[in-house]
Amino acid sequence: MIGVAREGLPVTIAGLGCRVPDRVVTNDELSQYVDTSDEWIRERTGIRERRIAAPEEALSDLALPAARKALERAGIEGADIDLIIVATVTPDMAFPSTAAILADRLGAVDAAAYDLSAGCTGFMYALAQGYGMLAAGLAKRALVVGGDVLSRILDWTDRSTLVLFGDGAGAVVLETADSGGFLGFELGADGSGGENLWLPGSGSRIFEDPDRHVKMNGREVFKFATRVLVQSAEDLLERCGVAVADVDVYVPHQANLRIIDHATRKLGIPSERVVINVDRYGNTSSGSIPLALADAEADGRLRAGSLVLMTGMGAGLTWGSALIRWTKETAV
Ligand code: ACO
Repeated sequence: MIGVAREGLPVTIAGLGCRVPDRVVTNDELSQYVDTSDEWIRERTGIRERRIAAPEEALSDLALPAARKALERAGIEGADIDLIIVATVTPDMAFPSTAAILADRLGAVDAAAYDLSAGCTGFMYALAQGYGMLAAGLAKRALVVGGDVLSRILDWTDRSTLVLFGDGAGAVVLETADSGGFLGFELGADGSGGENLWLPGSGSRIFEDPDRHVKMNGREVFKFATRVLVQSAEDLLERCGVAVADVDVYVPHQANLRIIDHATRKLGIPSERVVINVDRYGNTSSGSIPLALADAEADGRLRAGSLVLMTGMGAGLTWGSALIRWTKETAV
């Protein structure tokens, strides 16, 4: 799916917030659980450390403070929100949705609320849905959350996946604007590659011996990621009539520094325009892009008028890009 925001009301990001667990887990600590090393992990992935949720922390415990911050930054209250979408593969539980739990905690009594599953691309899908609802006039203010507690579904004896992921969540408030905001979206899915990154036994399909842990064919996902990050971004830029040179801030999914470097080189985006935090957080799945956006805001890179390109990819296999003309001045 590819589309340009030509019809309908302009929609923008009016506030953002994020939250990661307090506990920092270094590569050296992981080498106590599996046969790995700080050197291997840094060289192959660029990851130095990640945050891991405490046993009592579920996704909503990370999403709630992130959402509160986003609402505060947008200058609104929970009751002003009429749509909540939480992109995740690790909701608190299958039902009620984490979005409904958040709606209750935030006092968003008039909000429609649901979770969305599109792997690490979930936040891009959720942004596009929120955009569509607002642009069409069905909703006035949406809270879009991306977050995961991937540590709950990792096999802590499997070095090929354990070292890659971390926990975290981010949230944005979407509002209509006079001008600027989202220019377009490109979203896609290729279910034929689904078994390259999957969680067998986590739903209604019965498996002989399900262990309910993430399973990944790292090499295949690597090839897929390097291809779609570039293709999705190029297609969207072309459809929006925007040159790569005009992109001020590039926010790629934070899966692996080598994948990010490859995409950045192929697209021809100068490295100083790329947001990177995979070194500190690892791959936080649906939380990755909103956490990186929050980092870009914190270091003053998101200025009114900045052109921001985001691209994600993940389980499904799925991918997605969004292009937005930032409308809010960063409060540094
Ligand atoms: N520590 C030490 N050695 C390891 C580790 C580890 N943590 N993991 C694997 N190895 C070993 C392998 O067993 C293999 O050993 P062998 O040659 O004796 O068989 C060797 O290292 C090389 O393995 P490769 O898989 O070829 O290593 P590669 O350079 O491809 O890196 C990696 C592996 C980091 C997983 C890479 O393939 C990758 O990043 N893939 C994409 C992963 C990804 O992005 N996933 C998520 C995307 S979607 C989402 O975000 C949910």
